[in-house]
Amino acid sequence: MSKLKTMSMEWTGEEFILIDQRYLPLEEKYVTCKTYEEVAKSIKDMVVRGAPAIGASAAFGYVLGVKEFIGKPEFEEKMKEVKKTLANTRPTAVNLFWALERMEKRLNEIKNEENIVELIEKEALDIAFEDIEANKTMGRFGGELLNDGDTVLTHCNTGSLATVDYGTALGVIRGARDMGKDIKVYADETRPYLQGARLTVWELYKDGFDVTLISDNMAGWVMKQGKINAVIVGADRIAANGDTANKIGTYSVAVLAKEHGIPFYVAAPLSTIDLDTPTGNEIPIEERSHDEVRYCHKSKMVPEEIKVYNPAFDVTPNELITAIITEKGVVRPPYNENLKKLFEK
Ligand code: MRU
Repeated sequence: MSKLKTMSMEWTGEEFILIDQRYLPLEEKYVTCKTYEEVAKSIKDMVVRGAPAIGASAAFGYVLGVKEFIGKPEFEEKMKEVKKTLANTRPTAVNLFWALERMEKRLNEIKNEENIVELIEKEALDIAFEDIEANKTMGRFGGELLNDGDTVLTHCNTGSLATVDYGTALGVIRGARDMGKDIKVYADETRPYLQGARLTVWELYKDGFDVTLISDNMAGWVMKQGKINAVIVGADRIAANGDTANKIGTYSVAVLAKEHGIPFYVAAPLSTIDLDTPTGNEIPIEERSHDEVRYCHKSKMVPEEIKVYNPAFDVTPNELITAIITEKGVVRPPYNENLKKLFEK
């Protein structure tokens, strides 16, 4: 019997199983991780992606590390290595580091207990179940911001696949529907990795939503035509001043939303807010393989010798963000003050 089983991940107590997001929607394949190294590889290679899903995966990877090294004289040293290996996978989404810090702190608290494995496994499961709860709560808060009949534009994939379940920005859209509102969605394809076209459209279509796919360069024109009432995106890291790193292309959508007077919302749990990073300038931006740009999914479009730049994320300055939807409520500017208050409550 699985202890956790969602669309994106499963924890059996022995193995961590991930739906392989690299093959969706054409093939439904799974990757089974039995070691922390396999989890780290799955995060790096984007078998699993999306900030909260990466965080939860790292937590289960950490549990696999504890199981492997418990009882060995070099346990403490090995656990440092486990943490480092899991951390050295993707640099931008802060949920990864947040989850690893939490797991390490818990391990230190319980290191003299007899049932270390059971307790550390519980911590990972808590992270996972808290994520689902946070998403549902964000869905209720964010759902209030949408009106019956609205059409929302979203970027990247922020749904059940990007989280443990339900989703952040897609969670808000789901939350609005759960309130009885009819919400339509436009999904940007999200070049170069096509999370919007491959994952968001698949998820929303399966869930019965009226979803329309557009290529990224169509966003401005659909706004101009009056088709969009709100933009909602997720986040990989929100700095203390509200500057938000999210999938490359988010910044352009925010600029377009401002030009067209459309509210631009970010939906993210507290585990994505990094008060230790003062502004977006200090957020590390991952640069990924140039082949992601040279190829359109699996077809090569340009020769090797063409220079490529492939930042996987951009930063949307706080002044372009109408509100940040969290599980503790909807935060509006000034973000420097109001984000901090979330952690004081
Ligand atoms: O490179 P990815 O696919 O991991 O990037 C994911 C995103 O940018 C998402 O928008 C973000 O993690 C929020 S997911 C709830």
